[in-house]
Amino acid sequence: MSDVTLNTIQDQANQVESAFAEQKSALAANPSAKGVEELRVAFLGRKGQVTSIMEQMRNISKDDRPEAGKIINKTRSKIESAIEELKAEAEEFLIQQKLDQAPIDISLPVQSSGAKGSLHPVTLMRRVLLKEFRKLGFTVYDGPEVDLDLYNFSSLNFKDDHPARDMQDTFFVKDFDKTVLRTHTSNIQIHALMNQQPPLRVVSPGRTYRCDSDLTHTPMFHQIECLVVDQNISMGDMKGVIDTFLKAIFGDDLETRLRPSYFPFVEPGGEVDLQCVSCRGKGCRICSQTGWLEIGGLGMIHPNVFEAVGVDSERYTGFAFGFGIDRIAMLRYGLQDLRQLFEGNQQFLGQFPIQP
Ligand code: DAH
Repeated sequence: MSDVTLNTIQDQANQVESAFAEQKSALAANPSAKGVEELRVAFLGRKGQVTSIMEQMRNISKDDRPEAGKIINKTRSKIESAIEELKAEAEEFLIQQKLDQAPIDISLPVQSSGAKGSLHPVTLMRRVLLKEFRKLGFTVYDGPEVDLDLYNFSSLNFKDDHPARDMQDTFFVKDFDKTVLRTHTSNIQIHALMNQQPPLRVVSPGRTYRCDSDLTHTPMFHQIECLVVDQNISMGDMKGVIDTFLKAIFGDDLETRLRPSYFPFVEPGGEVDLQCVSCRGKGCRICSQTGWLEIGGLGMIHPNVFEAVGVDSERYTGFAFGFGIDRIAMLRYGLQDLRQLFEGNQQFLGQFPIQP
């Protein structure tokens, strides 16, 4: 025999809800995590009020059971979400109480730690590099780090299905069509040439991004791009610029060498190696016994790039190169692990000077 009806269940649910509402408002005056927990146990715990309505399910007729279940579940989820809200309120109340008790005196002088501060090695290296480029008559050109595929790839002669695109493990920007975190500073070649007619002599340092992380790669790294466009510019001019600034940084007695390589935006393209700073060409662990260290990519601007930006490739020639600033810093300062640069360890960073 079923002695409990749907009406009874509904009445009890209503009673529980109003009892809960009453206790909830009592708690609101002085919310605490302990009070909320007690409330939860009193209503949702094993011997709680909601649980005791549930226990009556077995005395209700089979036909009415699904409906009774719905009524009880509705009450339970109302109480559950109210408890969650109360928990958050109690936490906030506690924080506010602490803030009120111990107001922060912003006029209190800070105790000096005695630390003098220093420049980050990448900043240091960037400043040293720019100083050398300024001496050679370059101006600094700034370009965007979040850029369109148009500037980062397609105008630089990366065809849609070009295998060279695979060389770049690119971060694409979600929900923005054809937008990337630039994979190299070469995007400024396009920005600079679209904004400025040749003759042009610019250098552009900045952050670049690729999905890469190990001893010698970090997902964010720094490059410096150099671009010269004028009449009668030759590879000899390029070698002259590269030699001059590498010697200024690493000293006069280290050799550099150019070696052919492929990049879609230059023809001919190449890479520059510096005689190993550690063994001076004899061969050691740092240079993998080759005597040489790879510094960056270079080449003469490809006619397709000139065409993409509307510069007459019959009249003008130019060169560009792009080097890793972090890598140069690593070699110049003898660092073992590139990731050290981005870990924010003060002991490591404090070794560098305040001025370049
Ligand atoms: N952007 C190339 C890279 O990140 C490096 C590079 C190669 C830059 C050749 C250049 C260049 O300007 O001419 O791998």
